[in-house]
Amino acid sequence: MDISIIGAGYVGLTTAGCLAETGHKIFCAESDAKKLAKLQAGELPFFEPHLQEMVSRNRAAGLLEFGSTEEAIDRGQAIFICVGTPPLKNGEADLSYIEAVARTIAKRAKGYRLIIEKSTVPVQTGSQLRKSLAQNKNRDFDYDVASNPEFLREGSAVENFFHPDRIVVGVDSPKAEKLLRDIYAPMLEGKAFCPVHTGCRGRKGVRFLVTDTNSAELIKHASNSFLAMKISFINLIADLCEAAGADVTKVAEGIGLDPRIGASFLQPGIGFGGFCFPKDLQAFVRIAARFNCNFALLEEVEKINLSRVSRFVEKLRNELWVLRGKKIAIWGLSFKPDTDDIRFAPSISLIRELLSEGAIIQAYDPAAMEKAKEELPNITYCNDPYEAAKDVDAILLVTEWKEFRGLDWTRLASLVERPLLMDGRNFLCEENIASQGFEYVGIGGISDRPDAGSMVDELTIAPETVAV
Ligand code: UGA
Repeated sequence: MDISIIGAGYVGLTTAGCLAETGHKIFCAESDAKKLAKLQAGELPFFEPHLQEMVSRNRAAGLLEFGSTEEAIDRGQAIFICVGTPPLKNGEADLSYIEAVARTIAKRAKGYRLIIEKSTVPVQTGSQLRKSLAQNKNRDFDYDVASNPEFLREGSAVENFFHPDRIVVGVDSPKAEKLLRDIYAPMLEGKAFCPVHTGCRGRKGVRFLVTDTNSAELIKHASNSFLAMKISFINLIADLCEAAGADVTKVAEGIGLDPRIGASFLQPGIGFGGFCFPKDLQAFVRIAARFNCNFALLEEVEKINLSRVSRFVEKLRNELWVLRGKKIAIWGLSFKPDTDDIRFAPSISLIRELLSEGAIIQAYDPAAMEKAKEELPNITYCNDPYEAAKDVDAILLVTEWKEFRGLDWTRLASLVERPLLMDGRNFLCEENIASQGFEYVGIGGISDRPDAGSMVDELTIAPETVAV
């Protein structure tokens, strides 16, 4: 199918690359001239595993092109709106980019188009979109509006696209539903070759949930809010474990074994970040308030999350007493591994807090240093974890990059001023660290335990879905 994507951000570009990979003909529009020029030259504006290869391959095959919004409107029978919905000062989502795109579509499009909102939006945005299209539309234009929220996670977005838990579509006509089924047919029929696992075709029987547009929009916000709530919940449990002498790893395992609770998203740490959870929580609270629904519950989730960094600094202060003049290594800057995204990353507020107390920061991240330099120009960026550890009073692990496992702790011990590792993600196994004389401080009472940090890595696909 000829499909257009408007907006080449994380969501738009990943969707464009993945849909092209399944055989659709994709035209992706980007309004930022610099970004567009980069894309047309074959470069991606951000790092996402497997995306670069997939985009290059499909451009070469003629299945993926980049250009203007106008051309996208002319080309696609279905048009995905993937433009940004950044937070306004009051926490609400700024929908002005969506509105601008709607007006351009309404004035320019000829014949039938399915307009699909994929950006994360508050409930009733679809109805507003319909109104805006109706008010501005030219005579020859006919359309349906649908909502199709994305559930991709940065760092594993390509894999998530080919192995979705569910595909949710909010529609108000059988025609719109049929078109969306056609778009996702390769995934629904288990015929899409996932570029992440060679020979893997996903699985048949992915749940295709059809709802009205309001419900689809709510599913997205409610999902992210619920996940954020799980994280803040386990973070409070971690605090209680520390105070009461329990082990949060075991508590998380014990409660996660109940299928009604589930094991994932119970990893305590220095807090959630990224462009989705913090902004979506706020937007959800605001939109709920507009409908006279008091979501103080989620305000608390946000507050707990914001306090994680200060609590971590407090623990560091307990170890080092005075922070002024102390050298601190920060391992990991991105808000999570396998991405260069530092938006709302705990590392940024942590470093700011440490700097304000007079600490000296030596940071290392495998992918996010270029982006971090724009936010934090006045710290030292290092070439590897060892360089970052030189002469420091403490190493703070903030992002659980795989690279931080299997390091040479004997070498590290010879480099540091004081062998103290504070693990903000409970990621490193204490065994070999402790044997090199390092003191290990984790989250939630797991220090001084031989198997500290050895939580099972989350599996994103069940083994039976990988048909080789
Ligand atoms: C999140 C959702 O997981 C996706 O389903 C959704 O599509 C996406 O937002 C979005 O709205 O676009 P993402 O922001 O990429 O995806 O990141 P997650 O993997 O969900 O992690 C978010 C944050 O929570 C990270 O900082 C991570 O370190 C933290 N986290 C996650 C924890 O602290 N503990 C956990 O157990 C899990």
